[in-house]
Amino acid sequence: MDVFKVLEGRHSVRAYADQAVPPDKLKRILEAINRAPSAGNRQAYEVYLVHEAKQRKDLVRAGNDQEFLGQAPIVLVFCTHAGLDIDRYGPRGAQLYCIQDATIACTFAMLAASALGLSTVWVGAFDEEAVREIICAPRDERPVALLPIGYAAETPRLRSRRKLTDLVHEVD
Ligand SMILES: Cc1cc2nc3c(=O)[nH]c(=O)nc-3n(C[C@H](O)[C@H](O)[C@H](O)COP(=O)(O)O)c2cc1C
Repeated sequence: MDVFKVLEGRHSVRAYADQAVPPDKLKRILEAINRAPSAGNRQAYEVYLVHEAKQRKDLVRAGNDQEFLGQAPIVLVFCTHAGLDIDRYGPRGAQLYCIQDATIACTFAMLAASALGLSTVWVGAFDEEAVREIICAPRDERPVALLPIGYAAETPRLRSRRKLTDLVHEVD
């Protein structure tokens, strides 16, 4: 699909059908993640794939009772892995680059899912410690984004945006 069609058509979905994500589509999403750019190509993040119903239910609780986390058949958890950056980039790597790496990877997953006819919503409101326990991630990894993926059970309207003239500042 044309990239601009994907960008223009994507929207958050907060209700999911009881329908599995086909393995070939999941594979393409994971491969898209792995094409995301990262500082120095260090890929200072980890991705956890949650599909068991029990763990998704636990994510609902850790995610401020956002029920769609339990509805979507798959939830990807993106964690920073600062240790992969710190020797080369010091505090800037540990405090900034690894967050950018992880969130760009999440963006790639979101757009790939959309191109494949799947829906997502970026979830940032959650208890990091509780999520870390659910996915059994080590302490040096920080969960920064959850991405439920599945087939939409709703068709929300596209949300409006700020005007470009308000958002973009030309520097003379
Ligand atoms: C950093 C970040 C955190 C977000 N956290 C949540 C969240 O916890 N729950 C939720 O329902 N949506 C969340 N969203 C989705 C936004 O609400 C949504 O992207 C925004 O309203 C624009 O709507 P659209 O995605 O349909 O264009 C988050 C988005 C971002 C980028």
